Amino acid sequence: MTLPPRLFAPRAWQMFRWLRDPLKFLDECVDRYGSHFLMNLVGLNMAIISDPKAIADLFALDPSQFTSGSSNSLLEPLVGSSSILLLDDRAHRRQRKLLLPPFHGERMTTYGKLICDLTRHQTATWQSGQVVGGRQLMQTITLKTILQAVFGLVAGDRYHRIQQLTTTILDLLGSPIGTLFLFNRSLQQDWGQWSPWGWFLAYRSQLDELLYAEITDRQAEQATGSGGDRTDILSLLLAARDEAGQPMTSAEIRDELITLLLAGHETTAISLSWALWWLTQNPEMVDRIRQEIATLGDRPDPVAITRLPYLNAFCQETLRIYPVAIALFPRSLTQPVTVGNQAYPSGVSLFGCTYLVHRRPELYPNPEQFRPERFLERSFTASEFMPFGGGSRSCIGMAFAQFEMKLVLATLVMDWDLGLGYAGLVPPVPARRGVTVGPSGPIRLRVTRRTPPAEV
Ligand code: HEM
Repeated sequence: MTLPPRLFAPRAWQMFRWLRDPLKFLDECVDRYGSHFLMNLVGLNMAIISDPKAIADLFALDPSQFTSGSSNSLLEPLVGSSSILLLDDRAHRRQRKLLLPPFHGERMTTYGKLICDLTRHQTATWQSGQVVGGRQLMQTITLKTILQAVFGLVAGDRYHRIQQLTTTILDLLGSPIGTLFLFNRSLQQDWGQWSPWGWFLAYRSQLDELLYAEITDRQAEQATGSGGDRTDILSLLLAARDEAGQPMTSAEIRDELITLLLAGHETTAISLSWALWWLTQNPEMVDRIRQEIATLGDRPDPVAITRLPYLNAFCQETLRIYPVAIALFPRSLTQPVTVGNQAYPSGVSLFGCTYLVHRRPELYPNPEQFRPERFLERSFTASEFMPFGGGSRSCIGMAFAQFEMKLVLATLVMDWDLGLGYAGLVPPVPARRGVTVGPSGPIRLRVTRRTPPAEV
């Protein structure tokens, strides 16, 4: 079996580039080695793949041909060993079956008004001419959305403390030093409160305490039937029973809650922050989005907004040009497979590289140009446009995240003109934040109220 070319550089250098400037590093590698190449990272023998035909085969692999959960062990300190991210086989299938329905179809559309209201609430105190931090705004809105949709939490001390601790933990792990600790098991030592890992553990245990307190309260509510008709995801997890009729343990529920909290909030917030940046750069696109919304009448229905084609194309282009997850979860082969025309032996971890696929010029001419129209001019297959991955490990929040992005952006542009906070601002560049990649700066916006604001 002839393997693809292997990156010729010391492992520490490969890791340094992957963490420090991953996009430039990938651009250089693809130019030199092509659509399949091997490298060594976090102890994995990784194949980086950017040929859409090979990606289509990757998505079609049977779950028995690879493991993903065990290769995600890097995330265990954060999400716990029962998280869906760390599971494989039957346990993984079972959790997916449980978690998918609330993020799709009818159930999801009930969150439409919630998202518009939260966006309006967050901007209610803005004054015309004020400068606001776009990234922080998006983090707050997406975190509140998840807390309400997943936990059913709306107000109170616990809600605020979970919100604060989640933000603190993500900021800590997203900083350059936090990222280094996350990717290096040997650095993950608890040397007390004053060591970075010690901090992380202390914050995590405070968050755990709050999550367990919420789980206990809700278990009691369910036992006495005093919870009313709750439709949030925590209620579903509490009610779930396995084949033997056993409920999930509190530790399992905690791991799933924290997974959804972290996977569902930071990713969407980063994508929305990029979207804000592109809006400030392209006033004609803002006009076009507004015109499209205007076709829906005075009080547009949130679900109708999410079906608007140009708004959809704008969000897709945002997710294409700088995908939050530059590569998919590893698929570590348990048997030899061929993807595209390339054969791989068991033991290699296949990484579909979203960033490189999204930059292929034959699919996306002038790939560095932000041009939503490309999504109106032709359609792309699941392995050509893949910000949410695919196959048996695809993102369970895919529909929810896009729904949320569209409603937050539509609500903002209906009510506000968005300019840049400072003239001559240096454009943000993609920078690593832990396992994700997002804009380097806070995206400062100067906001001006439009009159009269539209109602949703
Ligand atoms: C713009 C926002 C988002 C992006 C770009 C994104 C991207 C991704 C990607 C690339 C994967 C891995 C797919 C693969 O390897 O094939 C993934 C998995 C996952 N995502 Fe998302 N995601 C987003 C939002 C969300 C939301 C809102 C939730 C839930 C609240 C969520 C929950 C998950 C979970 C639980 C998995 C693991 C699925 C599994 O292992 O079976 N994500 N996401």
